[in-house]
Amino acid sequence: MLSSWTQPDTLPSLLFVVCGLSFFIVLHRKVIRKESFFTTKLDNIPGIGWSGALASYLTAIRFLYDAQVMLENGYRRHHNSAFKIPFFDKWVIVFSDENKIQDIRRASNEQLSATVALQELMHFDFSLGAEISEDPYHVAVITRFFSDQKMRLNFAGLLDEVETALSEQIPINKERAKINAWELCRIIMFQSQSRLFVGVPLCRKKEYMSLNTQYAVAVMLSIHIMRCIPKFLHKPIRRYLSPFPGYIQKMTKLLQDHAHVCSNTQEQRDSHSPENIENVFLTALAQATESHKNILSEMSMRLLAINFVSNWTSSLTLNFALSRLALSPDLVPVLRQEVETCITLQGWSHASINNMYLLDSFIKESQRLSGVVGISLTRKAMKDFTFSDGTQISKGTLIAFPVQAIHYDEKNYNNARSFQPWRFAQDQDNPPPQASPSPMTSPDTKFLEFGIGRHTW
Ligand code: HEM
Repeated sequence: MLSSWTQPDTLPSLLFVVCGLSFFIVLHRKVIRKESFFTTKLDNIPGIGWSGALASYLTAIRFLYDAQVMLENGYRRHHNSAFKIPFFDKWVIVFSDENKIQDIRRASNEQLSATVALQELMHFDFSLGAEISEDPYHVAVITRFFSDQKMRLNFAGLLDEVETALSEQIPINKERAKINAWELCRIIMFQSQSRLFVGVPLCRKKEYMSLNTQYAVAVMLSIHIMRCIPKFLHKPIRRYLSPFPGYIQKMTKLLQDHAHVCSNTQEQRDSHSPENIENVFLTALAQATESHKNILSEMSMRLLAINFVSNWTSSLTLNFALSRLALSPDLVPVLRQEVETCITLQGWSHASINNMYLLDSFIKESQRLSGVVGISLTRKAMKDFTFSDGTQISKGTLIAFPVQAIHYDEKNYNNARSFQPWRFAQDQDNPPPQASPSPMTSPDTKFLEFGIGRHTW
């Protein structure tokens, strides 16, 4: 076998492949990572896997399928310092101590930017559009929306949509049916979130859902492709080759039709008046977009981005939680009883959901063990930055935290790798449970599934 590689006629091709590959990597390091071949300013920070000029590309490939193991190794070895991980186009410095988490929570956007970090790591300027991170006004619209009383009152709408989606997806007349759990979670989550964001009939349109699904897949693919292409080519590629302007056009058409349907009939006009709870989000987004030249196209871009960030994270969370339930069916009656007691006392409302302590603990524990991201709290240093312990990072450095490894740390959780559904429900031995001091939606330095600080959702 070995001898066939050293035959005189195969040697030139082998040499050609090796030289070609080396040339590509050297060029890639120079143009895309913007590093010199022999040294980088991060040389004094230990790496996980191979960190050499060429070998770091192998580590970057391994990170695609083995990230969790690599991050846990790095966390174990360098918990109180830092380690670096290579992506194809950049290095990321990973910190994990609690004080640094507090430091990034306190840092301003002008010091450490989450938006710019996400844009650079995920190449969102290419897929979601540079405008999204240059002027992220939609984030304020989302914040206001989720604290809005009208939205909170739309539980009837939410419940109606979950029931509608479930009855469409699960045939109740059959005793047994084969259902793809991931697809089911994605559809239920998408349709119910869309009921809040755009209302009926758009939230039920198959075209709307499939457009958003295709868009999300394209965003994920583009992240990997763009990591191999120099930045100066992103704009021309987006302009002439990218599918993204096409998605925005299709979304614009759907929004146009939706607005048309909404204003056409008296009944629809009434139900979609600005006072109507079904219409709160789109109205707020339209108002925030008013100063832009092409309002519908701008709104479409924001809506695609919002659906992308909200749907995949929530669907995965639901999928993981349902899988846990399938593995421990004895939990079903306990959770069902809590839910039924709460809705009997307070109906389907914000207040009754706040009182479902066991459910909260169950989902939080499921998130702790099966999170949707391995590293998070990514930030880019917009200027030289000094942490409270004196550690300095220079302008342009990308940093992140190994969230999953923190969740698996025995110092943070007893028996950290075991699933204990009521871990976060206080006074679990003496029912009824009391309000948890750490509900799922209150992130702290030991539970970082939603990030921390002002960027938390
Ligand atoms: C289980 C569901 C979800 C998970 C696990 C999740 C997780 C996260 C994480 C880890 C971050 C980064 C935070 C940081 O860097 O400190 C984030 C940011 C964000 N999430 Fe979520 N998220 C979820 C649901 C949602 C939903 C439903 C929305 C609603 C639209 C949303 C909108 C956002 C936005 C807009 C940001 C960026 C915030 C900013 O940069 O200021 N997320 N999310």
